[in-house]
Formats: sequence, C-alpha cells, structure tokens
Amino acid sequence: MRVKELRQVYGEEQIQARVAEMAAEINALYNGEDLVVVCVLKGAFMFFGDLTRRLQGPQVEIDFVRLTSYGRSAASSGTVSFVKDLELSVAGRHVLVVEDIVDTGYSMEFLLRQFAAREAKSLRLAVLVDKQERREVPVHADFTGFALSGGFIVGYGLDYAERYRELPAIFEIIPED
Ligand code: IMP
Ligand code: MG
Repeated sequence: MRVKELRQVYGEEQIQARVAEMAAEINALYNGEDLVVVCVLKGAFMFFGDLTRRLQGPQVEIDFVRLTSYGRSAASSGTVSFVKDLELSVAGRHVLVVEDIVDTGYSMEFLLRQFAAREAKSLRLAVLVDKQERREVPVHADFTGFALSGGFIVGYGLDYAERYRELPAIFEIIPED
C-alpha cells in the first residue's frame, strides 16, 4: 500500500476529552480498588499513558504485554501468541486490559482467555477504537473510546509498518490507487 494522504479522523483535543471521560468511568467503577492495568504494546502506549495518568490509585499497578499474530498484513489472523508476557501475576486481581483497536477480535480473544485461565478476579477491556463490524470472534469492550466501521488508521500509537505512532491525533490512510 502506497500512502496518498492522511485524513484526520479524531483530533488531539477530541481524543484527550474522550480519554478523560473513559478514565472517569473507570475510576467510578473500580472506586480505588486494587487493580492491574495492562498495556498491549506497541499500539496502546500513548492511550495507556494518557489513561493511566488519570486513574485514581493508590492501588494501581501497571504492566505490559506484546502480542504477535501470524499470517497477517494489515489484518489479524487466528494464531496469536505472546512476544512479551506479564511480569505481574493476575491471579485473584482485578485486571483492566488497555488496547488500541479491536478489529477481528483474535488478539483480545487470546489475551482475555489467557488471563481468565490465570484466574484473574475480574477482567475488563478498555479499547480506544472498536471496529465492531469487523469482528470474527466475539470480544466485548467494557470501555470504548470511539466506534469505527472501517478504514486503516494511524497515529496516537497506531502504526502502518511502524510509522506514524508519534502523531498526537488519529488519521485514516488514503492509499494511492
Ligand atoms: P485483531 O486481532 O484483528 O482484533 O487485531 C487488533 C490489532 O490489529 C490491533 O491491536 C492493531 O494493532 C491492529 N490493527 C487493526 N486495525 C488497525 C488499524 O486501522 N490501524 C492500525 N492497527 C490496526
Ligand atoms: Mg495492537
């Protein structure tokens, strides 16, 4: 895919306002309880930073995972595994997974199944952009920033071939035809 232009989908202020609302919802739900917040690298790193700085502790611990899925280009496939697993144990803990995008659902279906098997006390998912119409396996987001029906987006942590992650807003890639 050759990139013709980037078209803004969510602006910086819009994202910051929505993330603040999500943090308020999350704070209201956990109400200061012991919580492990998990960042799914790399795409969620910026969202994760903005979200976690608004969480009310004092019982918040953070950790990171990185996943890979095979046979993929811009879309996911059914075979997902860890490149980097958690360092913390989630057994008996409330766990909030923070992900950039849920698309087909394979990545989060894998991760949530893993954490459930480790007997997390509760397991919830916060996703910045939910492409629900593209789901191939059922994954439910407990906290959703934005709903999007299609298109490939970059910026605010999201990449196309490792580029554009540093942009403070989110853009759709318009390919050359
Ligand atoms: P899933 O396993 O198909 O749900 O894939 C989700 C992952 O695919 C996300 O965590 C992203 O890393 C990536 N992804 C899906 N759609 C996009 C997109 O529009 N831009 C950038 N990455 C995407
Ligand atoms: Mg991702």
